[in-house]
Amino acid sequence: MPSSQFAQKEKYQYKNGFNSYHESEAIPGALPVGANSPQNPPFGLYAEKLSGTAFTAPRHQNQQTWLYRILPSCGHSNFEPRESSTYNTNPENKPYEKIHHIPNQLRWDPFDLDDSVDWVHSLHLVAGAGDPTTKQGLGIFIYAAGSSMAPNEAFSSSDGDFLIVPQHGILDIRTELGNLLVRPNEICVIPRGIKYRVELPSGPVRGYILELYQGHFTLPDLGPIGSNGLANARDFQVPVADFQEDTSSSWTILCKFAGHLFAAKQAHSPFDVVAWHGTYHPYKYDLARFNTLGSVSYDHPDPSIYTVLTAPSSVPGTAVADFVIFPPRWLVAEDTFRPPWYHRNTMSEFMGLIHGEYDAKTGGGFQPAGASLHNVMAGHGPDAATHERASGAELKPMKVGEGSMAFMFESCLMVGVTEWGLRRCEKVQEGYNKESWEVLKPRFRRPGAGSEGGEGGKVEGGIGDGKQVPHWT
Ligand SMILES: [Fe+2]
Repeated sequence: MPSSQFAQKEKYQYKNGFNSYHESEAIPGALPVGANSPQNPPFGLYAEKLSGTAFTAPRHQNQQTWLYRILPSCGHSNFEPRESSTYNTNPENKPYEKIHHIPNQLRWDPFDLDDSVDWVHSLHLVAGAGDPTTKQGLGIFIYAAGSSMAPNEAFSSSDGDFLIVPQHGILDIRTELGNLLVRPNEICVIPRGIKYRVELPSGPVRGYILELYQGHFTLPDLGPIGSNGLANARDFQVPVADFQEDTSSSWTILCKFAGHLFAAKQAHSPFDVVAWHGTYHPYKYDLARFNTLGSVSYDHPDPSIYTVLTAPSSVPGTAVADFVIFPPRWLVAEDTFRPPWYHRNTMSEFMGLIHGEYDAKTGGGFQPAGASLHNVMAGHGPDAATHERASGAELKPMKVGEGSMAFMFESCLMVGVTEWGLRRCEKVQEGYNKESWEVLKPRFRRPGAGSEGGEGGKVEGGIGDGKQVPHWT
């Protein structure tokens, strides 16, 4: 069955469907019939409209949700800056920190767990481009937290949509629109402005986040693939309404705004939405549901064939951010170099590994909780040893990536690397290029000068032996 076997069982209810119009009510009758803003909504609830796109966005792109809640969101004290000298996740507005735009290939050892912080303070900006104040670009984060958010705290980002990719540990997320349990091999998206709090029911967590400052994620067009395949719309799960009736406790509302942290107080729970209807909501997706497609004749398709979600730019076919995965799959192509080809790309490629083994070299390699970045036009491909093995491998059908899940955040933008990403995290592998590619030997032989390429004999299981993660680094 194409679904993950999770150790932690599901505990919440969901509605299914991507880009669907959903409605949910925790108390029957809480949704007004027909009208969105009747003079008196049912049960004395306040109506509040949450717009994720401009009012006038085209119908197929318009995202908005009507909330019916005990008190509206505007009832809070003024927001005040919090940790203003240390908390800054804006890639462009970092006056005290150089952002490094460098052409080198980068690879990171696994990022450390951190027991000392909660979700809000676990966000480390590794790389990014653009600026949330102009709603341009994206930020790439590593998160590592060891404690749940305080009981009466909520968080939201006004800067963009969070695409969260857990690598370790479970996220139990209460949002304004309902609850999500998100486990490794699942992803979730929490759109801009939606308040939530994160509990850690199984202890420390670690993972990756792409924050999208412009637009929203959508499913890629399928073109000649047809009407099904890749990530199917029915497999996306949307929370159902679940509310707290609390109008007496003191709550702290944390807000990430232009990369900085602000806090306000209010005397009522922000999780008081009794019913909602609309298209702007969080969702989650089990990556094992992905219907992976590939070549059944020769050559590799481009890795875009593995796109789960895409955030288009204004240039047709060009994404501000693609979320791409490399699931377990069969390689059957004939007379084909089975690993990815060497290439250079106008898009930048940030990769991570959720779980699985790679043919890791001592003190290096691409490991779970690690990462790599091949920025605009940075050459990359299989390392020398992999090339050698794959050039002689017997080309029988092979299942590759068994038990693994690698992913890529791909962007049309050149991303800058933060001081934390390049230095302070102390995870950059200094010898990445040297070990991987500088050791490649010429294989060229002029015709008639002896052996004409194709060195090495057939190697049983030399590539795709189940222990290798077939990634595109
Ligand atoms: Fe690549």
